[in-house]
Amino acid sequence: MEFYKYATSSPWGVSFFCRLDPVSLTLMKMLVTGGAGFIGTNFVRRTLTTRPEYEITVLDKLTYAGNSSNLTGLDVHFVQGDVADRELVDKLVKASDVVVHFAAETHVDASLRDPAAFVHSNVVGTFALLEAIRKYDTRLHYISTDEVFGDLELTDSRRFTETSPYNPSSPYSATKAGADHLVRAWIRSFNIPATLSHCSNNYGPYQHIEKFIPRQITNILTHRTPKLYGTGAQIRDWIHVDDHNSAVQLILDNGTIGESYIIGADNDHITNKQVISLICELMGLSPDAYEHVSDRPGHDQRYAMDSTKLRTELGWQPHFTDTNTGMRTGLAETITWYTENRAWWEPLKAQVEANYAATGQ
Ligand code: NAD
Ligand code: DAU
Repeated sequence: MEFYKYATSSPWGVSFFCRLDPVSLTLMKMLVTGGAGFIGTNFVRRTLTTRPEYEITVLDKLTYAGNSSNLTGLDVHFVQGDVADRELVDKLVKASDVVVHFAAETHVDASLRDPAAFVHSNVVGTFALLEAIRKYDTRLHYISTDEVFGDLELTDSRRFTETSPYNPSSPYSATKAGADHLVRAWIRSFNIPATLSHCSNNYGPYQHIEKFIPRQITNILTHRTPKLYGTGAQIRDWIHVDDHNSAVQLILDNGTIGESYIIGADNDHITNKQVISLICELMGLSPDAYEHVSDRPGHDQRYAMDSTKLRTELGWQPHFTDTNTGMRTGLAETITWYTENRAWWEPLKAQVEANYAATGQ
């Protein structure tokens, strides 16, 4: 990895000969924002392995959620900087053929403690990027979330579709919804060549340990008791991060400009309580070896995704689809990853738990 802090002059040229598109024989320059975070890291790794026609530049601010060591040893250009920095973003977009925009503040609990960073990165940052995209007419894929649609009642069997109304509940989802509206307005008003996707909860390697699944895995690995919010009746439509990213690649290849796509792996029947029990069981504990802690204020109840459009129009299929729980295999692999990569998360653990303790947990 080549590391550039703040601005960079075009450092292209590394491995040029193995990065030619076999059809057009042109080199595709891809800018990945937020590429040192959870999904972005997995996307960069997947793209390097499966799509040699791309040369990748990562722009990441390296907030507490980003980790440049995720990209160590990879053939990418790394630029540390803020997506809201218009001068920097202008330079990087000018030098790119395609932009995939993952960068965001992402943790709902953190947005309840301090929403300001969410407005900055998610709304102002997306605005800055859109202005450069408009100027250079660059292909953009914008990573939204299912949370912009709000939540469903636990008794409601409907699923979100591409036409579900926006109804965000938390400062996080409100800022993601604000950014979505900007993207949609720039498509309509300025004809920018953009697509959007709304995915449900991801799990897999490199996820920050503040999030539900890695928090419980690392609780068990450090002899802490796993923590379930409230009753644990809430439902998240879990998807393995590689399945999310395979969908993003398909949309980049074949998605219709101006369209949005729902991404989901049909796991909208698994409660948080079932997930935490499965983690306990897979890690050799009794399935009820967790404790209930105070609930999240305004806690969204149920997310459920209808990915028919992605499957029928683009032929996407998730890979991690066990019949029983839908996530046993992926979860077991994820547990193995955290077990084998203690050095990656262990320095963060005490601070993460102190932050939670400060909120009364
Ligand atoms: P993450 O918190 O793990 O990573 C976010 C990355 O963005 C970090 O590396 C951080 O340093 C970087 N970043 C934050 N603000 C920045 C800024 N102003 N400028 C440049 N970089 C900045 O998040 P994630 O879980 O990988 O999520 C990535 C994207 O996917 C987000 O847009 C999120 O809304 C969306 N998403 C996440 C999920 C999920 O389950 N995690 C599901 C659907 C959609
Ligand atoms: O739906 C997609 C979204 O999923 C993304 O857009 C967000 O960026 C991502 O953070 C995630 O949001 P959630 O709030 O759903 O994820 P989180 O991992 O924080 O929590 C998942 C569920 O688990 C939620 O119902 C709260 C619960 N929970 C969470 C933690 C951290 C617990 O029961 N115990 C915990 O310790």
